[in-house]
Amino acid sequence: MVKTIEWVDGKVHMLDQSRLPIEVVYIECKDYLKVAEGIKKLWIRGAPAIGIAAAMGLALAAQEIKADSFELFMKRLEPACDTLLATRPTAVNIQWAVDRIRAFLENHRDESIEKLKGVLIEEAKKILEEDVAINRSIGIWGAQFIHEGDTVLTHCNAGSLATGGYGTATAPMLVAREQGKKFSVIADETRPVLQGARLTAWELMEEKIPVTLITDNTAGALMKRGEINLAIVGTDRTVRNGDVANKIGTYSVAVLCKEHGIPFYVAAPLSSIDFSIQSGDQIPIEERGPEEVTHIFGKCRIAPEGVKVRNLAFDVTPARYVTAIITEKGAFRPEDLKELADPRADLERLKIQLKQ
Ligand code: MRU
Repeated sequence: MVKTIEWVDGKVHMLDQSRLPIEVVYIECKDYLKVAEGIKKLWIRGAPAIGIAAAMGLALAAQEIKADSFELFMKRLEPACDTLLATRPTAVNIQWAVDRIRAFLENHRDESIEKLKGVLIEEAKKILEEDVAINRSIGIWGAQFIHEGDTVLTHCNAGSLATGGYGTATAPMLVAREQGKKFSVIADETRPVLQGARLTAWELMEEKIPVTLITDNTAGALMKRGEINLAIVGTDRTVRNGDVANKIGTYSVAVLCKEHGIPFYVAAPLSSIDFSIQSGDQIPIEERGPEEVTHIFGKCRIAPEGVKVRNLAFDVTPARYVTAIITEKGAFRPEDLKELADPRADLERLKIQLKQ
């Protein structure tokens, strides 16, 4: 399985996904500013992966800090927190990672500063390891929705590359394959950054899962012909009422699924669920520069010079289009999601039961 990000000898190595699948190149980040640049420029992308990168970025920043008290140490870590938080606004995972690191440090406030720096590296590595295990659990809960002979539609890339490994939307596919089910995948190319064409198609081919690439506007026609049985996508931020922010075009897929009676599943680690937001209307949506739309790979112009462009990176799918949200704790109906905010909730009662 391809490694998206790694801590190697005091540095962060990230696979430059903007060059895939043409070139497989790792970039070495010696400081948090380089990590932030990588998140902004999509060298690393995908909600869980940028959360991991933020945690590792903070671990790098911490190594440079000189402070003689815990309070000063935390104060000097703030610019790194702010810079990383400002990179991409839609995925909640960066905020999640910053909150987790702050809470972790708070719990270790009595340690020496040198010790703090060391344990912070271990905590960042742990976030990466945990992510893989979480995705595996998502796979176990999600595989029940893939049946023998199915064709699964996915949008953007919520695979290994978007996470610490295993992926979220791809995890049910990997587990279904282990269970011996035969199925195939249709990958939307995902204009304008082509995560589906460049990343999902590449990853699934590496995994030897049969995959067919389509342009985004082909999905409806294939659904009408009965050639798609279900859709599974990832999420950048899912909120209390079950509304789901994900890559631009996800909303159109969900509406098409509803029209054709096709189940639409969202694979969402709990780190992508923001219980502090009531509805999807409150999710900040990143808008990116026009050149992603007017040019191919920043080089070949495909639109007239000076044309006005809107380049929304994400959209919000209302909960009513979502069949189930698959987390590491089980699959839930979107209307039941808010119950997960309460640690005492009876998840067994709410869970969509796993079918053998
Ligand atoms: O702009 P990107 O490539 O970071 O967008 C990624 C997505 O929309 C993914 O579907 C989402 O982050 C979930 S990744 C497990």
